[in-house]
Amino acid sequence: MYYPDELIEEVRMKSDIVDVISGYVKIQKKGSSHFGLCPFHNEKSPSFSVSQSKQMYYCFGCGAGGNVFTFIMEYENYSFQEAVKFLADRAGVNLPEAEYNEETRKREGQRARLLEVNKEAAKYFFYQLRGESGKGGLKYLMGRELSKETIRKFGLGFSNVSSDDLTRYLKSKGYEDKLLIEAGLASFDEKYGMHDKFWNRVMFPIQDINHRVIGFGGRVMGEGKPKYLNSPETMIFDKSRNLYGLNFARTSRAGNIILCEGYMDVIAMHQAGFSQAAASLGTAFTPGQAGLLKRYTQEVVLAYDSDGAGVTAALRAIGILKEAGLTGKVLSLEPYKDPDEFIKNRGQEAFKERIAKAENSFFFELRMLEKDYDLNDPEAKTKFHREIARKLCGFGEEVERENYMEAVALKYHISFESLRKLVFSHAARNGMASPAVRPKPGIQKKKDPEENKKKPQKILLTWLVEEPYIYQKIKKYISPGDFTEDLYKKIAEKLFADLESGTVNPAAIISLFADEEQQREAASVFNTKLDHLSSRAEQEKAIHDIVVSVKKNSFDYFYSRSTADVSALNQVIEGKKALEELDKTHISLD
Ligand code: GTP
Ligand code: MN
Repeated sequence: MYYPDELIEEVRMKSDIVDVISGYVKIQKKGSSHFGLCPFHNEKSPSFSVSQSKQMYYCFGCGAGGNVFTFIMEYENYSFQEAVKFLADRAGVNLPEAEYNEETRKREGQRARLLEVNKEAAKYFFYQLRGESGKGGLKYLMGRELSKETIRKFGLGFSNVSSDDLTRYLKSKGYEDKLLIEAGLASFDEKYGMHDKFWNRVMFPIQDINHRVIGFGGRVMGEGKPKYLNSPETMIFDKSRNLYGLNFARTSRAGNIILCEGYMDVIAMHQAGFSQAAASLGTAFTPGQAGLLKRYTQEVVLAYDSDGAGVTAALRAIGILKEAGLTGKVLSLEPYKDPDEFIKNRGQEAFKERIAKAENSFFFELRMLEKDYDLNDPEAKTKFHREIARKLCGFGEEVERENYMEAVALKYHISFESLRKLVFSHAARNGMASPAVRPKPGIQKKKDPEENKKKPQKILLTWLVEEPYIYQKIKKYISPGDFTEDLYKKIAEKLFADLESGTVNPAAIISLFADEEQQREAASVFNTKLDHLSSRAEQEKAIHDIVVSVKKNSFDYFYSRSTADVSALNQVIEGKKALEELDKTHISLD
């Protein structure tokens, strides 16, 4: 962390969470908390809560949660430092520049310069499109039926025929050659010197989710190769972690996101009112992009080109969506090639119908698979059915698998019983869930030994937050050192100190972590609802079991390290004593 803790705490205290979040989300007071629609996933009834007393937010729908820094990190896609800086500016707290270490400052400085020069270039292209030299570009875009409003919304522009006018312009603004080359806007050649990367193309600025220009795609007007020229990857342009149009799509609240292949497709869909459309950046869809989509939606509708390459790409994307736990559907564009052409020919109502009729991705996979088999030949047909059975084994959850078996049996006219037999005989040989499919969260987790170690530690922390008086009863047996998970240990150290002094400060505990995932996990400690135990005896038994479980895990942990480490040996001796004592002790909560 580059700012001192006291300063971070000062910024946090001067940034009331209800105040800050109100600027982004409409929230209403209900009881002790404020509620609203969660900005991090799509929902119809509010499960996003903001607590003024805890200075935290938490979504009971998607599990997003944290303090005011986490919110800004997640909403604005900022790093922890950026979020601190943003809120400090807002609250009028001065941050010392020198607190950045040299390397970070250089890196952040470089990022900022790259963003700046891209923005400057986008403005330049935008301006050219509207000038004398850009007439051809504007004509091309109008010819593709884009309205002025659409052209403006997507910041489309034009790169002139001249081979170095952008370079000259940017240099006149004080940007050095080196930066222009690094940004992928220009390159250097022994013979010709500095020259622009893009010329005589209509320009599509590519924006990140916060509308910052991170790169460009440039299209030739008409025929020519390459059809699209894209910026190379740079420090700010990671093609596997951004999606074209997502800056608009993420707030569309359509209930799904439509994923397509081309920039023009995205633009055509937005123009027709489908503002939930986004596209990958001229490269194949990646797990990183699936993770990004998952922040905003549960369902992704694939609107890939209807040609062979499009189908192959869609099949790959389906696998990636499944891995990420997203529901995939496939939209048919037949008889047209891509969404742009479909909308041009059939219009927006027809497209809307196609969205509603989008096919379940599993059935799409089967339909494509079917093409490889001659179903009139019993031999081939059997092979096809075996392949279906193999794929059905990919559903780890029984209910889901049964539902799919039922639907498949009906659709492919296989008797349910023989399909079930096929599935089980495949499973008997190869195991039920194929390795490619991860179990859904919540299922099978109990069998994971790591999860079994973590869980009691988390529950104990939650309990201490909810019922601070328990601290006095258990502090004799448990110390922060007993938490073997780094994250929980760090929380415990602060929480135990807070409990000792009598003031628990959850939001400050979350600031101990600079990483968004860790903040989220820390926040969940403060927002987990404990099972309601009615009788005092039940509570005492439960707390006893949890304490024993945490202590036992700590004992095992240090025991396995004790031959190499003297301090671990001390922990072991102390732990053994405590365990023996706990065995005989009843922890009374009175
Ligand atoms: P239009 O022909 O203008 O309608 O474009 P499109 O969006 O239909 O393009 P297409 O389906 O051919 O390609 C989809 C995406 O792939 C484009 O948006 C680009 O991101 C990328 N792409 C297409 N052609 C090229 C190329 O020649 N080079 C590179 N690097 N990327 C390309
Ligand atoms: Mn097209």
